[in-house]
Amino acid sequence: MMYIRASIFFLGVLATLFLGWAGLTMIPGLQIREIKPASALKPYKDQQLRGRAIYIREGCIYCHSQQTRPEGFGADQKRGWGRPSVPGDYVYDKPHLLGTMRTGPDLFNIAARQPSEDWHLIHLYDPRATSPGSIMPPYPWLFKEDEVFSKEVYAAKGERVVPVPEEFAPEGKVIIATHEALDLVAYLVSLNHTYSIEQKVNNNE
Ligand code: HEC
Repeated sequence: MMYIRASIFFLGVLATLFLGWAGLTMIPGLQIREIKPASALKPYKDQQLRGRAIYIREGCIYCHSQQTRPEGFGADQKRGWGRPSVPGDYVYDKPHLLGTMRTGPDLFNIAARQPSEDWHLIHLYDPRATSPGSIMPPYPWLFKEDEVFSKEVYAAKGERVVPVPEEFAPEGKVIIATHEALDLVAYLVSLNHTYSIEQKVNNNE
């Protein structure tokens, strides 16, 4: 009698564990196994991937999310941050950078709002130069200073001059973007997921 009770108890434990595993691991796994990228979504290029690594290193994710929410979940749609994101938007994001904090705006479609590389370079050098009163920290270590030369000299040196407004630039100096700044900006201006997802992103259907 005791053995029967013990085995029923044991089977109950097994069934509970199995249901938990099936509900939390197996079924969601099956649901997301087949997600394909939208045909308009391109894999990142090398420079964009290097920029992405800098985005991670500099901790941009602590203030910026990369997930646009549907109507009814916050004001993303009213703010014009782009259509709600879908799983197929993230297939090339390893690891994904969804983020949980929004001290600054969502960046999933920043390139649609702000495609200018120069704007991003100036903003990273000193956010207050483009956005008065911004509380975003500056990233001066992504830039270096050089003397004032003619355009041809910078071209010969392969240097990208950042058009920082005079009052934000050190006196008598010119601000040059490092490779890291250029990589990061290449990544930022690639963040545009406003393409149509009418073609099936999720081929569960
Ligand atoms: C301490 C929080 C904080 C951190 C860290 C931070 N940001 Fe920001 N960011 C903000 C805030 C606040 C704004 C809005 C004001 C502004 O435009 O500067 C902003 C704005 C932006 C914008 C413009 C968004 C728009 O919709 O116009 C971009 C692009 C951006 N940040 C990129 C970055 C990148 C790249 C990093 C990492 C190198 C970073 N941010 C780190 C707070 C932050």
